Amino acid sequence: MSPAPLRILVCGGAGYIGSHMAKWLAAHGAEPVVLDNLSTGHREAVRFGPLVEADLLDPASLDAAFARGPFDAVMHFCARSLVGESVQLPYDYYGNNVVGTLNLLRAMQRHGVDRLVFSSTAAVFGEPVSERIDESHPKAPINPYGASKLMVERILADAAAAYGLRSVTLRYFNAAGASADGDIGEAHTPETHLIPNVLRAALGDGSRLKVFGDDWPTPDGTCVRDYIHVDDLAQAHWQALAYMDAHAGAHAFNLGNGRGFSVREVIAAAQAVGGREVPFDIAPRRAGDPAVLVASSALARSELGWTPRYPALPEIIETAWRWHCDPKF
Ligand code: UFG
Repeated sequence: MSPAPLRILVCGGAGYIGSHMAKWLAAHGAEPVVLDNLSTGHREAVRFGPLVEADLLDPASLDAAFARGPFDAVMHFCARSLVGESVQLPYDYYGNNVVGTLNLLRAMQRHGVDRLVFSSTAAVFGEPVSERIDESHPKAPINPYGASKLMVERILADAAAAYGLRSVTLRYFNAAGASADGDIGEAHTPETHLIPNVLRAALGDGSRLKVFGDDWPTPDGTCVRDYIHVDDLAQAHWQALAYMDAHAGAHAFNLGNGRGFSVREVIAAAQAVGGREVPFDIAPRRAGDPAVLVASSALARSELGWTPRYPALPEIIETAWRWHCDPKF
């Protein structure tokens, strides 16, 4: 007899990364149940399992969601996640990301679920002190978003010691791209991320891209980031489930391709992929942005067995371009 399929509660599964995760789980024989408050997610993105509408700030709604269990693990993608906004609205960021996660952890405890894959971020590191950021890099966030995620990382370490919670924290660098078949993709309102804004400007939606600063201490003066395909993030979460079978405790891995691209390089790559000009203007720097963020993901590769399928920026942009040419929501 084959084992029962894994049942995973995907918190934030109507959002950009969470919906790609739900798709990955369903494609690999697992059963995703999506928990989302639809504040920024899309009902149309929930196509790979049932949707339970619940809110991390409403514990009773969490109990109702866990009643749909039992679940083998929780994957936690719910968060406010915009660096610039977090500087303006710190209470919202600590409330949602820290208090909300504590509510989720308590609900997991009440319902006997002891495995969590947690979405963290490169923003926990702050300004890099080395060329590539590995897990031992100092953690000194320079914005409330990064600080809120680092607080949760600490909570998970304490929960492992006190309650035996197993967790894997995955620190994404810059998530990008869309499902290769074009059925789901990145759709934020308002859109603040670089690649979608570049592609919208290229498509001639009337917008001109704003490049936030060209006086950064980088080779061409624009910020450098490490773009990683959303399906490669999903792959790491899948591997994290197996990792938790074999490893108790709280673990953390950085996820990126290990190569940085400046804003100007992203614009050039998008122009090559789409065959269209990207109209842009230089604007002031955005609050909370570090100049350069590039990952070392050697640990994820060796410990999780993670191998990104999209190591090259043009292929990542190509999937995003297909989505933006024909968005389904
Ligand atoms: N940028 C522009 N114009 C835009 C949008 C972005 O110039 O219209 C620049 C930003 O200033 C930054 C780079 O492009 O230098 C990438 O910006 P994004 O907004 O796409 O991504 P961030 O680097 O700000 O944020 C992402 C995730 C966060 C994560 C962070 C790590 O959204 O969750 O990476 O710093 F924390």
